[in-house]
Amino acid sequence: MLRGRAKGHAETKMLRAKKLHVVFVLIGVVIVICTMGVLFKKPTEFSTNFAERSESLTHFQGRRQRGYESELQPVGEQPQAAFRQCKALFEGDRSAAVQAKKFMENHPKVPVNPEQYKSLTRNCSDFIHRRGYITSVSQVETNFPIAFSLVVYKDVEQVERLLRAIYRPQNYYCVHVDKKSPRDFMKAITAIAGCFKNVIIPSVRIHVVWGRISVLEPEFLCMRELLKYQKWKYFINLTGQEFPLKTNKELVKILQIFNGANDIAGSLKKQLSTIKKRTGYVYIGNKNTFITKSPPPAGIHIHKGQMKITATREFVDYVIHNETAHLFLDWVNGTLVPDETYFVSLNNNPQLGVPGAHIGDPDKKPYLTRYVVWVYGKAKCWGKEVRHVCVFGVSDLPSLIDRKELFVNKFHLTFEYLTYDCMEEMYFNKTRVENALPFNSDYYRNLEFVRNHV
Ligand SMILES: *[C@@H]1O[C@H](CO)[C@@H](O)[C@H](O)[C@H]1NC(C)=O
Ligand SMILES: *[C@@H]1O[C@H](CO)[C@@H](O)[C@H](O)[C@H]1NC(C)=O
Ligand SMILES: *[C@@H]1O[C@H](CO)[C@@H](O)[C@H](O)[C@H]1NC(C)=O
Ligand SMILES: *[C@@H]1O[C@H](CO)[C@@H](O)[C@H](O)[C@H]1NC(C)=O
Ligand SMILES: *[C@@H]1O[C@H](CO)[C@@H](O)[C@H](O)[C@H]1NC(C)=O
Repeated sequence: MLRGRAKGHAETKMLRAKKLHVVFVLIGVVIVICTMGVLFKKPTEFSTNFAERSESLTHFQGRRQRGYESELQPVGEQPQAAFRQCKALFEGDRSAAVQAKKFMENHPKVPVNPEQYKSLTRNCSDFIHRRGYITSVSQVETNFPIAFSLVVYKDVEQVERLLRAIYRPQNYYCVHVDKKSPRDFMKAITAIAGCFKNVIIPSVRIHVVWGRISVLEPEFLCMRELLKYQKWKYFINLTGQEFPLKTNKELVKILQIFNGANDIAGSLKKQLSTIKKRTGYVYIGNKNTFITKSPPPAGIHIHKGQMKITATREFVDYVIHNETAHLFLDWVNGTLVPDETYFVSLNNNPQLGVPGAHIGDPDKKPYLTRYVVWVYGKAKCWGKEVRHVCVFGVSDLPSLIDRKELFVNKFHLTFEYLTYDCMEEMYFNKTRVENALPFNSDYYRNLEFVRNHV
């Protein structure tokens, strides 16, 4: 897997602390400027909306501090004490981390259950308002809608909080709920989606099984649904346990710079033996028959990659409509873990002319769609390790603040829950000042795959 990925945050602590300091001072300055803007009665595109939002959150929580909601309380229960030290946690303050752990011990997380969501969404305008969904955006964002697929199966609260973070009225969201998920989970998700005309639930549901083509099928269902909407420019797929590192406006800026390139991680040389094992033989279910498989159609070289993709609308259209893509899909159907080869191979065979495909050495291609810490060797994980992936804890927050990636994986709703709460707090703080956030466009412009694509 991508061991190198974890090396990215091997900066010294001091440097990071300094950087953090600069960011916070900047945010502070920006807040002052924004406040002045409001005073002089020239509302920016975000300020009016935000004032409303913070007020509504106060109302919903019964315990808001300065406009940010750090944890969605179970409806009808006494509000818990609030934890006010996210900023210190991001700065790597050890005593704050100790206090956070104590706080979580004293206030165990009680997830909001599907029933509560069903009753909350009975009055949609009230729900949208109380939960502080962002309902107005800048012209730049309006002109550049993004399509998301969310493949989910549990933890309605976490799914809803992810949706709330990435939700903007001009974007499109397709939420696939696994067929094996409980009925009440499905009903709650349907109820939430019912409050938004741009949140779609495909009518067919797939029972997703690891290793099989069924992992890809929800993507196809969602891609088909999403293609019915004309305007979006890029497609990003997510699971319920991720969180954005960039605001929508930042995403738009980055995707505009991508200028038609896809970001799909792939590897060839480093993965030859796995590729041979998984695609060199005919599989029945997940069982290898050891019968040699015929070579792929159209002279496609098989690559192996990561699960999450950022792809252009044209790429998605190719996947859904092109006959070569269909032939190739038939071919990967009956290999092991086709989800790690199908899109990656389409993206790394530039001779096919697939829109946005990468030209160059896939093993050297950076990967911006997702930040994941694979726990091998020296990789630091302060949370817990689940199947070699770091589930972040509060002490990981400093390493998440100035990442260049678009999203980060992964968080568990009840594991060190303040980690997610603080990510949210930081995210919504950023949405208030996103016009003034430092943005390194050169970094994205100079990415190898942005410079070299079909
Ligand atoms: C978010 O903004 C609030 C209000 O300005 C501030 O108190 C809080 O520390 C900020 N949180 C973070 C993580 O920066
Ligand atoms: C929904 O809630 C809003 C207040 O948020 C209220 O004005 C409206 O009357 C409610 N609608 C219904 C149908 O109850
Ligand atoms: C994969 O193959 C099975 C069995 O032939 C078929 O039922 C299924 O529709 C195929 N899936 C896709 C996505 O083509
Ligand atoms: C995203 O799409 C890729 C296609 O390569 C697929 O393998 C993966 O399972 C999808 N991930 C999610 C989170 O839906
Ligand atoms: C489908 O893809 C193949 C290979 O990339 C290409 O030659 C062909 O023209 C495409 N078909 C259509 C209808 O665009």
